[in-house]
Amino acid sequence: MDTTQKSFKAIEKIFTPDVVPEGVGAKVRRIIGGHQLRKLDPFLVLDHFQVKLPGGFPDHPHRGFETVTYMLEGEVLHEDFKGNKGRLGPGDLQWMTAGKGILHAEMPGSWEQEAIGFQLWINLAAKNKFCEPGYQEISKEKVLIAKKDGVTAKVIAGEALGAKGPIYARTPALYLDITMEPNSTFEQIIPKGWNAFSYVYKGRAFYGESKKEVKTNSVALLKKDDKEVLTIETKDEEAQFIIIAGLPLNEPMVQYGPFVLSDEKELAKTFEDYQFGKNGFEDAPGWESEIRKLSRSKSVAL
Ligand code: CO
Repeated sequence: MDTTQKSFKAIEKIFTPDVVPEGVGAKVRRIIGGHQLRKLDPFLVLDHFQVKLPGGFPDHPHRGFETVTYMLEGEVLHEDFKGNKGRLGPGDLQWMTAGKGILHAEMPGSWEQEAIGFQLWINLAAKNKFCEPGYQEISKEKVLIAKKDGVTAKVIAGEALGAKGPIYARTPALYLDITMEPNSTFEQIIPKGWNAFSYVYKGRAFYGESKKEVKTNSVALLKKDDKEVLTIETKDEEAQFIIIAGLPLNEPMVQYGPFVLSDEKELAKTFEDYQFGKNGFEDAPGWESEIRKLSRSKSVAL
């Protein structure tokens, strides 16, 4: 493609997310879901979390969407009400489809080292909200890595640098973790009509044709328009950032904490299902995770 034919995406705004408390004793930078960016259809929440024991995210349910946990440092343990258990370390990814219902706990693995990573909530279309729950897990070794001209892309979902990520996203989405060497340039196609943003978690980078500076822990929200090429440059320092984009669902939704449904009737039914153990929450009443005990005693063995 000749440069003159490219249509470069513009930047809608740049902001630095607030740090807010979440779960028990955890601190998160709320990239989506805070006052600067309430929602970005199909995304409901994106937290850059930082937590160590005794903090964590003990037993809680989800219904009607997907949660994507991507680790940068430390370790997170998870356990659900069907007996699924796992351990996520740096570079590991868990793409969890809550669908009709999951009850689980997510706890840091250490009293000393903070678990740091991202958790993204992606809404599901009305037709998928009651699908069977499931996991797509990709260990650090299996995350697809593409490299070109000083740019390293970990392709989780969607395509970058000619590589296609392994995740099947029910709500079409792009999820990339990019590292750029100093003085390099990167171009990424964002499908037309998708909502998109990038969050810099290390260094600084310059976005768009106007080369707007985005510093560490700040977000570039991209203009939703027909232009499709995002261009990013680095100057004298390295930059690490994620790029996330998704096809808007444009459907009505109601949210009550971890329940995201299509209307009030479905939400009311969800409270009943969860309380009485029905329609996907059969194993919920009385269930308690083992890993929640981690925050009570240093001697719990798992
Ligand atoms: Co959860």
